[in-house]
Amino acid sequence: MKKFLTVLAASLAICGLFFSCGNKGNASSVKVGVSMPTKDLQRWNQDGSNMKAQLEKAGYKVDLQFAANDIPTQISQIENMITSGCKVLVIASIDGTALSNVLEQAGKKNVQVIAYDRLIMNSKAVSYYATFDNYKVGTIQGDYLVEKLNLKNRSAKDPVYMEFFTGDPGDNNINFFFGGAMDVLKPYLDSGVIVCPSGQTAKAQAATLNWSTEEAQKRMENLITSNKYGPKGSKLDAVYCSNDSTANGVTNALLAAGYTAENFPIITGQDCDIIAVKNMLKGTQSMSIFKDTRTLASKVVEMVDAIMKGSNPPVNDTKTYDNGTGVIPSFLCEPVYGSVDNYKELLIDSGYYTEDQLK
Ligand code: BGC
Repeated sequence: MKKFLTVLAASLAICGLFFSCGNKGNASSVKVGVSMPTKDLQRWNQDGSNMKAQLEKAGYKVDLQFAANDIPTQISQIENMITSGCKVLVIASIDGTALSNVLEQAGKKNVQVIAYDRLIMNSKAVSYYATFDNYKVGTIQGDYLVEKLNLKNRSAKDPVYMEFFTGDPGDNNINFFFGGAMDVLKPYLDSGVIVCPSGQTAKAQAATLNWSTEEAQKRMENLITSNKYGPKGSKLDAVYCSNDSTANGVTNALLAAGYTAENFPIITGQDCDIIAVKNMLKGTQSMSIFKDTRTLASKVVEMVDAIMKGSNPPVNDTKTYDNGTGVIPSFLCEPVYGSVDNYKELLIDSGYYTEDQLK
């Protein structure tokens, strides 16, 4: 028996060695294209470098491109990835509806496509989707506003005044961020407990092209002028912002209108961008959502590996994300509430940022 076990162990070890060498050999000849929307927003820089580092560590060659938020640039970068022999494409789209044609070429060449963070719409070529639970992002933001503004104990005689900002209309995620937040807040709007003085509560009215900080700032400046918001003017209790880049624009406009940390409206956000954490520490943003991009990147590497080995990629949601051609099997990572109360353990102890980066 002992002899049998020794022989078995030795055979397994040899097999293990053989397979791991085999896989490594495989991976190193496989090129993966990683297409990110822009370098301008902090998170995509981080996502891009995490993906590259983790894919390379797993033995893949990586073609990482950033598209300067320009749709034709992203399309031509993807085209190049296909013609230069990438076997898998990982794409965070600028506009999820703009890639159908170029991805047809991917489909024809049997290049596998993973939609990264943002769903790519109307394309059969998309095999998998890796993202965060985007609806939950919205409900965490909405629940936060309900609690902070004590909405459950108010009536229409004692309302709060709020404006709304979400992201790019071509980003499918806003349906979930804004939709999730609105599912929580709409009953209060309907009952008059929340008043939106501009009346701009529809997604299209609250949208911000390219999630641009400057665009959000301009719109907030206009809202301040037309509604006379200010520490000495009309009351503004909160601004719902779907993410940190829009929150930052809103914060800039409110600072210019004379608000200070002492009387700052409540501002929501998402991503725990460095600038947002700094604003939270200064008292000019109230909360954010932490989405650990290292976890997302490692899930995508697992997906790529499984695709290359012909096994089943990790998936935990098969009903939420329909891209117009059917539901795309997805892996949803967990978003986490972030604020001055927990940023140390969330961001510093976990090694996401150093203390110095937040100074
Ligand atoms: C991402 C957010 C990000 C936004 C702007 C969305 O698709 O999910 O994390 O803040 O794009 O870059």
